[in-house]
Amino acid sequence: MKIAVTTTRESDEILNNKAKVISKDLNIPYIKRENYSIRKTIIEDDFDYLLVVEKDRIVIKNEDSTLFWHPSMAEFKIKSIKQGDNVAIMEATQLEEGDSILDCTLGLAGDALIFSAIVGKSGSVVGTEVNKYIAYLCKCGLENYTDINGESITNIKVINESYEKYLSKQSDNSFDVVYFDPMFKEPNKKSTSINSFRDFARHRGLTREIILEALRVCKKRVVIKERRGFNDLDNLGIGKYYGGKKNGSIIYGVIEKKI
Ligand SMILES: C[S@@+](CC[C@H](N)C(=O)[O-])C[C@H]1O[C@@H](n2cnc3c(N)ncnc32)[C@H](O)[C@@H]1O
Repeated sequence: MKIAVTTTRESDEILNNKAKVISKDLNIPYIKRENYSIRKTIIEDDFDYLLVVEKDRIVIKNEDSTLFWHPSMAEFKIKSIKQGDNVAIMEATQLEEGDSILDCTLGLAGDALIFSAIVGKSGSVVGTEVNKYIAYLCKCGLENYTDINGESITNIKVINESYEKYLSKQSDNSFDVVYFDPMFKEPNKKSTSINSFRDFARHRGLTREIILEALRVCKKRVVIKERRGFNDLDNLGIGKYYGGKKNGSIIYGVIEKKI
């Protein structure tokens, strides 16, 4: 994928310097933004995407899509959990304050934010994300975010690495829970942000070997997010799950660790 970093047209020294830092961090070219549209810059230089440094956020853009970090539905779900509602992701993970969780498929940390709110400051969330652009958007987004109580997020660690590699380096029983949310084969919504996210994300499915590895690394359970009726949980031999009853709705498969 051909991608460069630039700024908005109304840039100043601070934005230009930020873009140059990102250029080094991600090892992509920096383009000084002239008075051209994103479309013209992309077409002239034959880029697939431009990472644009705006005043308060960074956005990955192409001619017809934009991708940026946002807390997604997490804030809504956190409020619901705090009010005592039964939320399937909590029923499945059974996370408690002080617990540790490895979120193998961090993405833009929508689920990790929920875990972070539950395990609290005495707990920890480690997230692995294999794509360097998604991991970068996520890390910068989390660094600049304050939660619904106005507090910074200090218990999520973003690691730009594949879960295969990260899991292989962990000792037995090192996290209470190991969690996977692989890309769905078919997107359930057509939106420009989901389409550009899909362009960057890795789509490979889970294997039995990886689940065995996750079971070795967890203390309590492995949880896998899926869509009902799409069969991966059945194929992986997972029979226990929480969540929606309708075909296509989100479910969470659980494998308890037997000691
Ligand atoms: C469906 S998204 C996860 C969304 C996330 N749970 C959230 O709430 O924002 C799946 C993510 O896992 C990443 N991924 C896929 N395979 C991976 C691997 N082997 N190691 C690490 N990350 C991986 C993809 O790049 C993608 O960003």
